[in-house]
Amino acid sequence: MTSTAFPLTFSHTPSPAARAEAEREAILANPGFGKHFTDHMVQIEWTLEGGWHDAAVVPYGPLSLDPAASVLHYAQEIFEGLKAYRHADGSIWSFRPEANGARLQRSARRMALPELSVEDFVESLKQLIRVDGEWVPSAPDTSLYLRPFMIATEVFLGVRAAQKVGYYVIASPAGSYFAGGVKPVKIWLSTNYNRAGKGGTGAAKTGGNYAASLLPQAEAYEQGCDQVLFLSDGFLEELGGMNIVLVKKDGTLLTPASESILEGITRDSVLQLAEDRGHRVERRPISLQEWREGAASGDIVEAFACGTAAVITPIALLKGEDFEIGSADAEAGELTMSLRKELTDIQYGRIADPHGWMTRLDA
Ligand code: PLP
Ligand code: COI
Repeated sequence: MTSTAFPLTFSHTPSPAARAEAEREAILANPGFGKHFTDHMVQIEWTLEGGWHDAAVVPYGPLSLDPAASVLHYAQEIFEGLKAYRHADGSIWSFRPEANGARLQRSARRMALPELSVEDFVESLKQLIRVDGEWVPSAPDTSLYLRPFMIATEVFLGVRAAQKVGYYVIASPAGSYFAGGVKPVKIWLSTNYNRAGKGGTGAAKTGGNYAASLLPQAEAYEQGCDQVLFLSDGFLEELGGMNIVLVKKDGTLLTPASESILEGITRDSVLQLAEDRGHRVERRPISLQEWREGAASGDIVEAFACGTAAVITPIALLKGEDFEIGSADAEAGELTMSLRKELTDIQYGRIADPHGWMTRLDA
């Protein structure tokens, strides 16, 4: 792919339909997840000849796509997810946005899309916050979820990498991802379906992985569960939209190492915080059998899911076809909740940020 000219400069077109303060505040008071969107969005175009150009902040609204746009046929699409947090002094921050920018680049390489520089990626977030900063809520555990994404817009039905691409950022005020708030969730073990295979797209944040998870996710709901856990040849991979971590009695944290899972930034950060406290962390293949035996013997005592949307969510129960680990009414694990508190305290600026993870978006 051609290299990127940066830094880009952004034009601004204010939205004539920007919501009045009262309407915005009513939405922020009960945001849910992914249901409401701010008044503006970012768009940047890319062509093979011209590279990245026409960076703009424009009114939020429908995209106009030709029905032959290749994303609609071959799913050449990638995205990111990160949050903007309001600190007590009113300032607005995001958590390791450079890591999201770097991951978008890795996803782009896998999906034969052009790479946007990390600098332009972070700038695109700042540009949106500049106009829509008032949409960052301030109630506890709320944030503005930022959703950058890139799609193949070339009008062409041949199967090859598109020569015309669009990058966009939209933003959505967010409360808890799970309807029950931070209460422990139930996980269904999918044995009929895999999420990804060796050499596939599992490590890329691309829409097709999520499309493939919808049917097993529907099975999870039928089983009374909130999320689905995928295996690969009997080894743990991840959930439909978050990573998994197990905690041993001696305080060791275990998490799958696999080429076909998404390298979560939340997981990386929480494991770092655990290591800072002196916990041992093992990133290695973990079989379902190891979890079952460890849970039965009392050696594995906690499990949690982690991701931007889920933050850190305790797992109460893993439900398989013919076995269960944990119980539906299990309490949240102690280490799980204490790591959750430390991570969110850093994100919301309530404690020091020892690793320099926070980037200010509104200045
Ligand atoms: N795995 C999948 C499939 C995800 O969708 C996510 C969420 O983005 C994660 C893991 C966790 O990644 P992160 O912590 O960077 O949000
Ligand atoms: C995120 O946490 O950002 C994700 O992409 C997960 C999705 C289930 C909302």
